[in-house]
Parts: sequence; structure tokens; C-alpha cells
Amino acid sequence: MTVPIIAIDGPSGSGKGTVSRLLASRLGWHLLDSGALYRLVALSGMLRDISDGDEPAHAVLAATLDARFETDAAGQERVLLDGQDVTLDLRAETTGNLASVVAAMPTVRGALLDRQRGFAVPPGLVADGRDMGTVVFPAAGLKVFLTASAEERARRRYNQLKEKGLAANLAGLSQEIHERDRRDSARSVAPLRPATDAVIIDSTGMTVEQVVAQVLALAREAFPAI
Ligand code: DC
Repeated sequence: MTVPIIAIDGPSGSGKGTVSRLLASRLGWHLLDSGALYRLVALSGMLRDISDGDEPAHAVLAATLDARFETDAAGQERVLLDGQDVTLDLRAETTGNLASVVAAMPTVRGALLDRQRGFAVPPGLVADGRDMGTVVFPAAGLKVFLTASAEERARRRYNQLKEKGLAANLAGLSQEIHERDRRDSARSVAPLRPATDAVIIDSTGMTVEQVVAQVLALAREAFPAI
């Protein structure tokens, strides 16, 4: 049986995470937060004092990652690494920046491929990332490339961090977003770019609800059975 898949790709702060989570919950489908896997590899390396540029060591971590995604009794998502709750550390900007470095390592990407594909189980999957439609799920029935201006993305990231009670600096975030965009788009392996058959949605000035409604409408066309 082919599992219906919606691939949502796009740059940091484009709203992919929020939109993907809402879509998965509305459709009752599974969610793959592929960025969390790259963040977990980065965090695992930091915790083990592995140097940032050590590709073989990071590839081993990626292949042997002991990670669990859970939702607690209050409906809060938790991520466990080696049995420890790392939910907050995972979202820190330092983790995100290192994730972008390890995500450029071809052997790390290769080691995470099967794990990502394993999320495609019935009744369906919403896959959130950078290369969902181009590399991991090239046969996905619906591919969306969600973007927004760099200024809007920095502002959204700032508000997200503040809401979580984390330290944030708008100018610094804006610079990091530009830097991460450049690294994610320029890397030779699985660079950030829309699949040729992706629908591009620019969410600048759109509410989350408007984006979700647009993707749901596209999903009903792509998967008439839902
Ligand atoms: O979406 P995010 O910020 O959690 O992603 C963290 C980093 O991982 C980001 O710099 C890009 C990278 N990434 C990737 O290369 N491929 C994916 N499918 C998901 C994330």
C-alpha cells in the first residue's frame, strides 16, 4: 500500500514546523520533524565533545542515534536522547547552527535516510524538512515549498524563542538566518531548493491558518480519499 505523503520543505522560520504539526494533527497523520534528527546528531556530538568538523564521528552518531519522540500527558512534545529529555536544548540556536554544519556532511545525511523513510506508515505522513520532496520522499503525492522573507523569518524566530522564555536578539537572529540559508542552499549534497513539482507558497503576511487551509485544499486535490 502506498502511504500518502505531504512533503513540506523550506528555510528556517518559514513556518514549516507549525504548519506541518497542525496538518498532521488535522489529518490524523504521522509527523516527521527531520530537522530534529539533524539537531539530535549535533547535540549528541556536543555532549560527547566531538569536534564540529569530525564527519566520521558524526556519521556514527547519526547511524546509532537513540532518540525518542513522545507526547506527555499534558500534550507537550518531548524529545529524548539516550533516555534524557533534551527538548529545550534541541531548540537552542547553538544546536541549530551546529545542525546546519553536520547536515552538510553527506555521510550524516546518508545515515539518516532509512530512519526518515521509516516514518512513512499509514494512514499518512507529513514530512517537514529541507529535502523531503527532493531526496527523502521524491514520490510524495504533494510537495510544498514554504518560504517567507528573511526579515519576517527572523521576527518569527525571535517571537518563538521569547515565548519559550529563551534569550533572543533580533539582529543576531537575522544574521544567523542569512548565514544558515547560505549554508543550506550552497551545500553540494541535498541543497535547500524546491522540487521541480513543488507548489511554492510565500507565507510573508499570511497567517498560519491561511497557510494550513491552502495546503489542506491542495491535499484534498492530491489525495481525494482524505
Ligand atoms: O528545521 P531545523 O531548523 O530544525 O533544521 C536544523 C538544520 O538541519 C538546518 O540548518 C537545516 C538542516 N536540515 C537539513 O539539512 N535537512 C532536513 N531535512 C532538515 C533539516
